[in-house]
Amino acid sequence: MTFPDAPRASTPTGAESALSPGDSARYDERFASRASGIVSSAMRDLMSLSERPEIISLAGGFPNTESFQRATFDEITEIMARDHLASSLQYGPTEGLAELRELIVEVMAVEGLSAHVDDVMVTSGGQQAIDLSIRTFVDPGDVVLAEGPTYPGAVPCFTTYEADVVHIPMDEDGLQVDLVEEALDRLAAEGRAPKLLYTIPNFHNPGGVTMSLERRRRLVDIAQRRELLIIEDNPYGQIRFEGEPLPSLWELDGGSGWVVYLSTFSKILAPGVRVGWVAAPAPVLRKMNLGKQAADLCSGTVTQRFIIEYLSRYDWQDHVARLNDIYRGRRDAMLRALDEEFPADARWTRPSGGLFVWAELPEAVDTRDLLAQAIAREVAFVPGAAAFLNGQGRNAMRLNFSGVPEATISEGVRRLGEAVHDAVELHRALGLGGGSE
Ligand SMILES: Cc1ncc(COP(=O)(O)O)c(C=O)c1O
Repeated sequence: MTFPDAPRASTPTGAESALSPGDSARYDERFASRASGIVSSAMRDLMSLSERPEIISLAGGFPNTESFQRATFDEITEIMARDHLASSLQYGPTEGLAELRELIVEVMAVEGLSAHVDDVMVTSGGQQAIDLSIRTFVDPGDVVLAEGPTYPGAVPCFTTYEADVVHIPMDEDGLQVDLVEEALDRLAAEGRAPKLLYTIPNFHNPGGVTMSLERRRRLVDIAQRRELLIIEDNPYGQIRFEGEPLPSLWELDGGSGWVVYLSTFSKILAPGVRVGWVAAPAPVLRKMNLGKQAADLCSGTVTQRFIIEYLSRYDWQDHVARLNDIYRGRRDAMLRALDEEFPADARWTRPSGGLFVWAELPEAVDTRDLLAQAIAREVAFVPGAAAFLNGQGRNAMRLNFSGVPEATISEGVRRLGEAVHDAVELHRALGLGGGSE
C-alpha cells in the first residue's frame, strides 16, 4: 500500500529506463500485421498539442463542457452516493443497464427514430460502436465504402481491421449517392462487394455537410435493392443551429435490417462519460455484444448511472439548446473570420450544425506542411489527409468551432490566414501555382 505522502521509490522509473515509441526493433517481428497497419489518427496526435496553453486549438472536436451546471453535477453524484453506491461501483450487463437502454430509446424518439430496448446496446463512447461495427463485419482486404473525407477517428478502425476503403465524394448535399451505385457496379465487375457503407448523414465530421432527404431515400433504396449494409453514425443530429431535422436512414429503412445506427452522449451531454450506443438488427447486435465482451465486458456503470439520473431528472433538451446557442455564435465567428482572413480562392463549408468546417485551399498548398507554420503561429487544425485512406485531402483542413470562445476563434483564424497567405505566396513565387488571383 502506498500513501500520498510516502517517499517515492528510489529505483529509477519512467523516462530514464523506458524505451521510446520508436525503439521497436525487438518487437517488430512480433507485432501482428494488423498492429503494423495501425496508424494513429492525426487528430489524436494533435490533441496532445492542444493541451499546450499557448496554442489556439481549432483541431480537436471538444464539446463545451463548461456550461454543464455544477449544481446538477453535485445533485446527481449525491443521489448516486445515497441510492446507488454499490451497484454503481459493480460490473453491469454487457449490453448496458436496462434503465439506460430504455432512456436511449426515448432519446432516439426525440430525433424521430423508433427503436425497441432490445435493439439497443450501450457502448464505451461512439468510438467503440464504430470499432465493434468494423470488427464484426470486416476481414482483411474487405471493401468498405465511406465518405471522402471520413471521420478521422474511424481511420484507425479501418486500418486495424485492414479494410480496403473506397471513398465516395460528397458535395453540399452530402454523400453523392449516385456514385455509391457506380462504385457498386464497378466493384461487382471486379467480383467484389463492399461489406458495408459507413456514413455520417448529419453535420458531417469533418465535412460539415448534411445528406439531403432525397439522397437519404435513394441510399436506403439502394441498400435494400442491392443488399448494402449501412452503418449510420449520428453523433451530431441534435447539434442543430437552424433548419428542420431530416429522417434518419434507420427510420427510412423501416426495420428491414439494412441499417445499423450509432450515436453517443458525447455531444449532447459530455464526452467524459464515455457512453454511446448502437441500435442494430438482433443477429448483428448479438455478434457485437460478443465483441464487446471481449473488449471491455461492460461500459462504466458509474457514468451509465450518472446519465440515467441526469436524463430522468433534468431537462437535457434544454441543455442541448443552450449548447447549440453557444455553438451557433462560434460557427458564425468562424465563418466571419474565414471570409475576412482566407484567400478568395479558398472554399469552405457553411454547416448548419455539428462542430466542424471543412476548408479547401488552392491545390498547391499541402496542409501537413502548413500545420508546422500554423503551430509556429500558435494555432492548430487537422490536416485534411487525416480524413482519407488514399492520400487525398492534401490541400484541405478541418476546423473546429466548438472548443474555444468566439474572440479566440477570430484570432486563431487570423493567424491561420497569415500562414495560408504565406504558403500561397511561396508557391506562387516558386511557380508552383498558388491558385488564381
Ligand atoms: C462522427 C463521429 N463518430 C464517433 C465519434 C466518437 O464519439 P465518442 O466521443 O462518443 O467516442 C465522434 C467524435 O468526435 C465523431 O465525430
